Amino acid sequence: MLKTHSCGELNKEHIGSEVALAGWVDRRRDHGGLIFIDLRDREGIAQIAFNPEVARQCHKVASGMRSEYVIRVRGKVASRPPGTENLRLATGEIEVIAESAEILNSSKTPPFYINEDIEVEESLRLRYRYLDIRRARMKENLILRHKAVKFTRDFLDARGFIEVETPILIKSTPEGARDYLVPSRLHAGKFYALPQSPQQLKQLLMVAGLEKYFQVARCFRDEDTRADRQPEFTQLDLEMSFVEEEDILSLFEELFVLMVEAVRPEMRVIKPFPRLSYAEAMERYGTDKPDLRFGLEIADLTDIAGETDFSIFRSVVGDGGKVKGIAAPGCAGYSRSQLEELNKLVRGLGAGGVVTIALGAPGGSLDDLTIDTVKSVAAKFLTLGQIKQMASRLGAAPGDLLLIIAGEANVASTALGELRQEMGRRLELAEPDLLAFACIIDFPLLHWDEKVGRWDAEHHPFTTPRDEDVPLLESAPEKVRGRHYDIICNGYEIGGGSLRIYHSELQRKVFRLLGYSDEEISQLFGHMLEAFDYGAPPHGGIALGIDRLVMLLAGEKTIREVIAFPKTQEAIDLTFNAPSPVTEEQLSQLHLRLREEE
Ligand code: AMO
Repeated sequence: MLKTHSCGELNKEHIGSEVALAGWVDRRRDHGGLIFIDLRDREGIAQIAFNPEVARQCHKVASGMRSEYVIRVRGKVASRPPGTENLRLATGEIEVIAESAEILNSSKTPPFYINEDIEVEESLRLRYRYLDIRRARMKENLILRHKAVKFTRDFLDARGFIEVETPILIKSTPEGARDYLVPSRLHAGKFYALPQSPQQLKQLLMVAGLEKYFQVARCFRDEDTRADRQPEFTQLDLEMSFVEEEDILSLFEELFVLMVEAVRPEMRVIKPFPRLSYAEAMERYGTDKPDLRFGLEIADLTDIAGETDFSIFRSVVGDGGKVKGIAAPGCAGYSRSQLEELNKLVRGLGAGGVVTIALGAPGGSLDDLTIDTVKSVAAKFLTLGQIKQMASRLGAAPGDLLLIIAGEANVASTALGELRQEMGRRLELAEPDLLAFACIIDFPLLHWDEKVGRWDAEHHPFTTPRDEDVPLLESAPEKVRGRHYDIICNGYEIGGGSLRIYHSELQRKVFRLLGYSDEEISQLFGHMLEAFDYGAPPHGGIALGIDRLVMLLAGEKTIREVIAFPKTQEAIDLTFNAPSPVTEEQLSQLHLRLREEE
């Protein structure tokens, strides 16, 4: 090694020792005679003092050093002169008195400061990602990611799981998103697909008798990139034989609790993880991935609204719709423009608008509320009694703002769910260092896809229906409950899985219901159906989005902050500038010709 120690590890105990350090110049201060260099490596920063009286030549070398130069220094660790210690720095009580130094490489002036945590435009950060990772924030995020993944591997290894690698070049089969395709050179006109997840492979490993499998698996989906979505991302993929839902959910609960204690002890986890049915989550929070760090629950006001003289409420209730609301604490004073912003938000989500009722000034109880302190376009059509009834059902107090949406049940719930998130953000209701995990269970197996006019799997086609609901597959598919579960945290779906179908007949029946012809079934999924006929065990599993989990552990807002080389929103890798054109020769080897784009 070119160095004996890392910069960050030096402390008072090293005083007197001879050390060799190597790293990057974080800062250089020239005090006339003395030059100080803050030398940075991955572990931290050490101050190097270059004194011309101690080593003249070495001081000369130091005068040529600039930010981000790569240097190597030999010297003796000494305590800093009294009064010059820097207690904010782990190594702030010592310095290294340089005896020899060399510049290993120079550096151009970086396009942004490496040594300061200031906002830099993201495209610039991604273009120079290697410099961005040199900065503290990205470096710490990647170290955290490493720790979380290592913890997971050790945890699962200790419980008898084995990690198996599955292929990246595989067959295109429908799994929900669009596939990335890879043309074959050896087989003209044929394509591999990159796996959207190792779903079918892990199920085959259960047929193979491995019983407990996991993999840190790269997955590829050609879908629109968002803050929590990348075209390639990493799953902790897991599958077990002879299990039921709770075996998998409680295993993950234990994993998360212990992982947070180990890698982010300053964060708090709500234990035990609540189990919420899909219906309950939709009813109370308007989404199947609610942020449970705060309340603001949705309540159904249909019965009260139907009794009022407010025509909007009456007509929606008359048409079989619902009236639902939430109470925003302390927001009765919202201005007209603030209310209009909320209105715009819910209209964008397909709701007609939001009816607001401001409950006077804060203080006192609902009993003290008088009609002249209530502000609402609906006020003159409601009695004080009806307003109090709604307020009390929403858990509101004077000074609060009731936000009410009338409409088709799902539209009202979804819009209120978004409104709840928005108010949670505005009012900063979520404790920042809290991780509110929960398991969502009892999903429907299928939903009707309006666009294509057929049933689609809520999770994927391999999820098993509940035994008692199998007869409904033909008569009432919408009523069939799937044995699918999600794990959510702070408003994100971080994992999803299910118990699987393991009889070929039932699997065939589900494929047919999803609109596949018998020919398509055998062409696309023949390998799975065949395998199920050779003693497939009951099995189930889950996949955890590692990027999303680490994003939450790191307190970041996008998964790009925890991925070394992510793609942009437009799915571009700015460091390599990919995707990029290829040569005619490459295309021809792959039997491809490009079509002129119109
Ligand atoms: P699912 O599609 O729900 O399930 O994915 C599981 C988890 O993977 C993460 N995830 C993503 N993360 C980043 N970018 C993306 N584009 C992206 N898509 C998904 C999410 C999600 O909860 N084979 C099944 C799992 C199973 O049934 O065992 C599957 O892939 O955190």
